Amino acid sequence: MISQHITIGSTHIPRIGLGTYKITGPGAAKDVADAISIGYRHIDTARMYENEAEVGRGIRDSGVPRSEIFLTTKVWPSDFRNLIPAVEDSLRRLQMERVDLLLLHWPSDPESNKIAVAELNEVLKRGYAQSVGVSNFTIAQLEDARKDAPIICDQVEYHPYLSQAKLLAYLRSYDMALTAYRPLALGRAAKDPVLLDIAAAHKKTAGQVTLRWLVQQDDVAVIPKTTHRERLIENFNIFDFELTEAEMKAIDDLPKNERLTNPATAPEWD
Ligand SMILES: NC(=O)c1ccc[n+]([C@@H]2O[C@H](COP(=O)([O-])OP(=O)(O)OC[C@H]3O[C@@H](n4cnc5c(N)ncnc54)[C@H](OP(=O)(O)O)[C@@H]3O)[C@@H](O)[C@H]2O)c1
Repeated sequence: MISQHITIGSTHIPRIGLGTYKITGPGAAKDVADAISIGYRHIDTARMYENEAEVGRGIRDSGVPRSEIFLTTKVWPSDFRNLIPAVEDSLRRLQMERVDLLLLHWPSDPESNKIAVAELNEVLKRGYAQSVGVSNFTIAQLEDARKDAPIICDQVEYHPYLSQAKLLAYLRSYDMALTAYRPLALGRAAKDPVLLDIAAAHKKTAGQVTLRWLVQQDDVAVIPKTTHRERLIENFNIFDFELTEAEMKAIDDLPKNERLTNPATAPEWD
């Protein structure tokens, strides 16, 4: 049985979270509260998503104590030299005293990265976040960052069509987690013939098999996004079956060269 949390030091990251990119507008708070009512205890937002106020309201409306929710937000590179005020603004929008995890959303130039990473220590000191990390950082950028702040994770694109083998090995060697964004490859994985075949054997969906393949790897958490209640339930129910070694390998063996984030801004990883 795999644990439903990844433990890094004293931080417990729920393996399954709700991604909230593009969950905006009047219904967003209800979408977040719905997810929490289904059992989600990990919510992923960012200043760039322009939904922190709604995410904060959804968490409050859920009635579940704040201490039971693992909340992540992220600071965009344009705020790297102004990090503390940006984090304070996020907390005001969320109407919270702290988040559980604060991430640098994308790497910037080396000097700005260094300034922002150093400021993550001040974020911790002020109690604005329980833990800090990065997103979309390469191994080389992580190698610098982890020397200057207690980084606990890198949130990166990871799904059956993209390898993160080298990054994952690096993260594990320094006791850091990988949070897989775009884990369903924007929904494409739900229609994949190889994944559909494996799903049929378990009476599950290809989406569930994809998420299970990810969380069945040590130190990997997933944050699929959906606003449909039936899919929220589907994506959450991935802990009552197990993929065999052969099934894991069949998914490992799918071609792994498709990055779905903007290649103009995505750096080289391996
Ligand atoms: N750090 C970063 O730079 C970064 C970048 C991108 C994303 N993220 C985070 O990662 C989260 C997830 O990534 P994402 O939203 O880009 O991609 P994703 O979760 O891989 O895919 C979301 C798409 O899949 C559909 N979907 C969800 N569940 C499904 C299911 N069970 N079966 C079939 N289709 C399904 C959704 O449609 P419906 O909504 O219509 O159900 C939506 O179109 C984001 O919301 C965000 O929090 C972070």
